[in-house]
Amino acid sequence: MWEYKKQLEFPVHISKPNLRYAKILITQIGGYAGELGACIRYFMQAPTMPDLVGQNLLIEIATEEMAHIEILVAMIKGLTKGATYEDYKKAGVEDIYAERAKGLYPQDATGNPFSALTLASSGDVITDLTEDLAAEEKARAVYEHLMDLTDDPEILGPLSFLRQREIVHYQRFAEALKHYQEK
Ligand SMILES: [Fe+2]
Repeated sequence: MWEYKKQLEFPVHISKPNLRYAKILITQIGGYAGELGACIRYFMQAPTMPDLVGQNLLIEIATEEMAHIEILVAMIKGLTKGATYEDYKKAGVEDIYAERAKGLYPQDATGNPFSALTLASSGDVITDLTEDLAAEEKARAVYEHLMDLTDDPEILGPLSFLRQREIVHYQRFAEALKHYQEK
């Protein structure tokens, strides 16, 4: 079970709405490299890890990925705060407004819905951890792409934190992989 702390893992203060950016940022929830896929992947893989080293690590990182979804949701909330349908039209993202106004939906930046087909749970420890290493690198790369597309420090701060966490996760998966390879 979890104990929920009513605070973000990294603070989010977005004062300037940016609907176009909200539209692309959602990819780190619902895209192929997003936090939702990472979270589900790790929860699904955890039970077939041969010992507690892998099981505990996967549950721990899956849990942190949930906290990252929470950060992204807070960012999107800030980026869409106070926006009217006229603002969606002006920003050229009336497609988003037409579907769900300010409602969030797990999809990528081009509108493809989240799919569990982007992840695997093979039952093989080496295969799964190798996939997890790649998943963390994919997430890091997409955070860097998103950082390329803004110069707003209120967006860059949380993105930089999230990018850094992917690197830490990569390192922890690398240690677990070494543990099992040596076994
Ligand atoms: Fe991660």
